[in-house]
Amino acid sequence: MTEINIIKASLGEVAGYLKEYGSIFIVFDENVADLVGKLGVDAKGTLGIEVSEDGKNIQTVMEIDQWLMELGANRDAFLLGIGGGITTDIVGFAASIYKRGIRFGFIPTTLLSQVDAAIGGKNGVNLDSYKNMIGIIRQPEMTFICPEALDSLPYEQILSGAAELLKTFIISNQDDNYERTVKALEAKDIDALKELSGAAAAVKAGVAGRDPDERGERRLLNLGHTFAHSIEKNSEESIGHGQAVSMGMILAARLSEAAGVAEKGLAAKLEADFRKCGMPTECPYTIEELADAMKKDKKAEGSIVHFVLPVRIGEVITRDLTVEEAVDLLK
Ligand code: GLY
Repeated sequence: MTEINIIKASLGEVAGYLKEYGSIFIVFDENVADLVGKLGVDAKGTLGIEVSEDGKNIQTVMEIDQWLMELGANRDAFLLGIGGGITTDIVGFAASIYKRGIRFGFIPTTLLSQVDAAIGGKNGVNLDSYKNMIGIIRQPEMTFICPEALDSLPYEQILSGAAELLKTFIISNQDDNYERTVKALEAKDIDALKELSGAAAAVKAGVAGRDPDERGERRLLNLGHTFAHSIEKNSEESIGHGQAVSMGMILAARLSEAAGVAEKGLAAKLEADFRKCGMPTECPYTIEELADAMKKDKKAEGSIVHFVLPVRIGEVITRDLTVEEAVDLLK
């Protein structure tokens, strides 16, 4: 069991949690520069980076480590990454290899990174066009979930994290958080979403902490993702991850019904709920068109894919199927 430390705090409280950490260095996404000033952290250095999927590579990691070296950062340095999932991945990797590993922490600033990307310890960057091909699993000292970070986000950005938020509660639905999330998204209720984001972060931290190397339980977090990765690939990335996960979860529910795992009606319920939330539900590709990329999914083992199938809201299982078996069931 790995302890994954999630701290729900306001931006102004962060400095208090970092009092014991000697020399603090901050790397932030330039788009959230205004948040850095609100922290009141006495940093030895701050570095704004331009963030893009293209820049999520080893060169950016090396630039950060070079910067740390030029500022004389020692092994006791602490690196704080502020931004969305691309930033936290880059910063976590840079900290993990600098002087063979310094301590680091995150302030995720998007809904997607608060509930998913900044939690779990996987810190990777792209190699050519291959996503997250190089990286390391190493946990941050803490991830701060700061509700105000979501205040200035355009609603479109909130919506791109909505699928992962709902996914988390389809896996584990304490306090009826799934239905609460549907209501909050339908009403565009940001205050409710801030609270639900903290709850989802705690669920992910629990699952990833019990299975940090993804040998069992953690696979459940891939609900909808085998289909989603294939949808993203087929669309040449014009369909974003959140949208693809939304469509992917509906396909997973249809597969689950066809395999006799879920009761009839679950896929229709998800479809109706997601539509109410403003999320896309119709995959523009046939299952045959998705099959090829599914076979090449990096999480497939030989011809077997560990499909995650919802049984009902709050319970999912894995079922090993070949892609051909899945295609036959979905036809
Ligand atoms: N960094 C995301 C994860 O570990 O799942």
